[in-house]
Amino acid sequence: MLLICPLLRLCEQDERTYHPVKANHKKIMQEAAAYMPGGIHHTISHNPNSAPEFLFTHGDGAYLYTTDGRRFLDTMLGHGSLLLGHCAPTVVEAVTTQAALGNTFTHITQPSIELARMMVEDVPCADKVRFTNSGTEAVILALRLVRAHTAKNKILKFEGAYHGFADGLLYSTNYGYPDRWPEPPSSDPDSLGIPEGQQDLVLIAPWNDLERTTRIVRDNIEDLAGIIVEPVMRGLSSQPGFLEGIRELATDHDTPLIFDEVRTGFRLALGGAQEYYGVTPDLSTFGKGIGSGYPLGAVAGNDQIMGHLNPASLDEERVFSLGTFHSNAVSTAAGVATIRALRQPGTYEHLKSYGDQLRAGLEELFQRFDLPVQMSGEANIVEWFFTTEPITDYRSSLATNLALSGRISSEMRSQNIFGGGGNFSTEHGDTELSLTLEAMEACLVSLRDSGELNA
Ligand SMILES: Cc1ncc(COP(=O)(O)O)c(C=O)c1O
Repeated sequence: MLLICPLLRLCEQDERTYHPVKANHKKIMQEAAAYMPGGIHHTISHNPNSAPEFLFTHGDGAYLYTTDGRRFLDTMLGHGSLLLGHCAPTVVEAVTTQAALGNTFTHITQPSIELARMMVEDVPCADKVRFTNSGTEAVILALRLVRAHTAKNKILKFEGAYHGFADGLLYSTNYGYPDRWPEPPSSDPDSLGIPEGQQDLVLIAPWNDLERTTRIVRDNIEDLAGIIVEPVMRGLSSQPGFLEGIRELATDHDTPLIFDEVRTGFRLALGGAQEYYGVTPDLSTFGKGIGSGYPLGAVAGNDQIMGHLNPASLDEERVFSLGTFHSNAVSTAAGVATIRALRQPGTYEHLKSYGDQLRAGLEELFQRFDLPVQMSGEANIVEWFFTTEPITDYRSSLATNLALSGRISSEMRSQNIFGGGGNFSTEHGDTELSLTLEAMEACLVSLRDSGELNA
C-alpha cells in the first residue's frame, strides 16, 4: 500500500513547493542552480554532473518515486538513516501526533526522556545521553567533552574516517585528497576555510595498524585528549583484535575512547558496534538511524565524562552545550518510535540475513563477470572493492577501480535502483534482493557489451 505522508499532501496543494508530476526536470534543476550553489545541497561529489537526473516526490518503504512517475528501489536510504525505510507508519504517526502538540518547549521534552532511557537500556557505554540535531554536532560535543575531561587538546582519528563536516575533524577523510596526504600522524584538511592553527591538533593513524597507532599514542600522550574510531571504518571491517587493542591502549594510557556510531549505531545491533564487537568505549556519538530521517544526533557515555554537561558541576569542570532544537519533541518522538520498531524480535536477524545474501549474491555475480572483487563490511553493512590487492586500511582501499564503481552506480539508475545496491532497510525483503541482483546483472551485461567492464 502506498502511504503518502500527511506533510506531503500539504505540499501537493502548493505547486511552488511541490513540483507537479511530469515536470520538466531540466527546468527544475536550472531553477535549483539559480538559488542553490551547484543546484545541489552538499559537496559530497566533486562532479556536479553526477547528480541524479530526476527529483523525488516521496518515499514509501523501500521505494522512492520521481516527479516524472518513475519508481526506484532505494539503496541510499537518506545517507543510510532510514533503517525502517521511508515513512515507517509508526514513525509517521509518532511525528504527526507530536507535531500537532508542538515541537520545542525550551525545556526537555517527554519523548526525549523516553528516548534517553531507551538508549541507556540498549547502548553498553551509555550512563547518560545528550541530544543534538545531527551526527556532526554530536561529534563536536564529544570532542569538547574529552578535551575538558583530560585538559588536553589533540585528537587521534584514523586515515579515511569521516566524522562529519565540522572544522575539528575534517582532516584526511574519504572526502579528502589522498594524493597529497602526508604520512601519519600528520593530517591534511579536506576543505578550504578550516583555520590553519588547528591542524596539529588532529593526529592520523592507519586503520588496523595497532603497532603504529600505539606508537602515535605513546609519542603524543602528553597532549592526547582522546581517540575517535568509526568501528566499521568507511565499510572496512576491523581485523580481529584491533578494536580490543585500541580499547586496551586507551585504557592503559588513560585517554578516552570515542566510538563514532553515527553509521553503526542501532544498525549492527540495538547496542551498535559496541554490542556487536563486545568492546565498550567511554563515549559514543549517534545520528542517522536513531531518527529515521528526522534531524537527531546524540552523545552517550559514562557518568564521569557526561557529568561535565551537568549544570550542577563545578564551574571549572562544566562543559557548555546548547542548541535551540536539541531534545526537540518531534525528532525524539521519531527516535522513540524507531527504537521501538527495531526492538521487535527478528529485526537484526532479518537485516543480517539480507546482508549475507546480498554480499554472497553480489560476489558471485562479480566473479562470474571476471571482476577482481573483495567484499567487505559487517552484517548489514555491505561494501565491495574492485581490486585483488589486500585491503587493510584506507590507503590500500584506494586501489579499487573507482571509475567502475561510478559507472555501476549510474547504470543502476537506468535499472531503477537508486544507489549502488549496498544499503537496505527492514522494508527490503526477497523481492528487493532479487531486484537488486537482477539489476546488477543487467548493469554488468550492459557494461561488458559497451567494453567498459574491464577498461
Ligand atoms: C561516522 C559518521 N560520523 C559523523 C557523520 C556526520 O553526521 P551528519 O551528517 O548527521 O552530520 C557521518 C555522516 O555520514 C558519519 O558517517
